[in-house]
Amino acid sequence: MRLDRFLGNLPCYNRQQVRLLLAQRRVRVDGLPTGDPLLEVREFNRVEVDQQVHQAGRPARYLMLHKPAGCVSATQDPQHRTVLDLLPEELRNDLHIAGRLDYNTTGLMILTNDGQWSRRLTQPRTKQPKTYLVHTEDEIGAHYIDRFREGFYFAFEDLTTLPAQLDILGPRSARLAIVEGRYHQVKRMFGHFQNKVVGLHRESMGSITLDPILHPGAFRALTDEEIASV
Ligand code: URA
Repeated sequence: MRLDRFLGNLPCYNRQQVRLLLAQRRVRVDGLPTGDPLLEVREFNRVEVDQQVHQAGRPARYLMLHKPAGCVSATQDPQHRTVLDLLPEELRNDLHIAGRLDYNTTGLMILTNDGQWSRRLTQPRTKQPKTYLVHTEDEIGAHYIDRFREGFYFAFEDLTTLPAQLDILGPRSARLAIVEGRYHQVKRMFGHFQNKVVGLHRESMGSITLDPILHPGAFRALTDEEIASV
């Protein structure tokens, strides 16, 4: 939200007072005085007027985790281990998953408390590719490539999938880049050929690649560069 709106929504200032406070540079955001009414204020920013704190701000957290098979992409589950159970308790609070994976899918999982950032990473319109290593039961034909590019009609959502890039690596393995994350998307795409996906591993999201030092179940914080790439 814009800084002038943020201040105007507080019960203590009207619009005219907000203009004055900004003109007199009595407002600090993250410790720095500002007079910019258009400055974007998010829940992570600390906002003070004179010495009074109006929003304490909270640390933004961005983690990458190597999801192992046999755990659910959810923050809670009555039956199964979840990806959050793999993190220490003090890190779990208010995290959400940017792009779920199926129970037996492995690979890159990103967790954050920054909803705006995770939407940029996952929304189809931002066209950030998600790449998967796929193993199938039957052979993958060269004719698959064009069909993946053309898209598949998904009746349940009433949409055609956006162009996807399929690189065939071996008779039963391929690398697939998609820009969406529809429910069971990869399995449904191969299902079009009645070819069952028997192994699925996410390698990257946007320009963030699963760090090879992370064994299944391990995690690390994203670097500033990785965060800024989204
Ligand atoms: N597509 C699937 O079918 N499953 C996943 O876990 C991810 C993408």
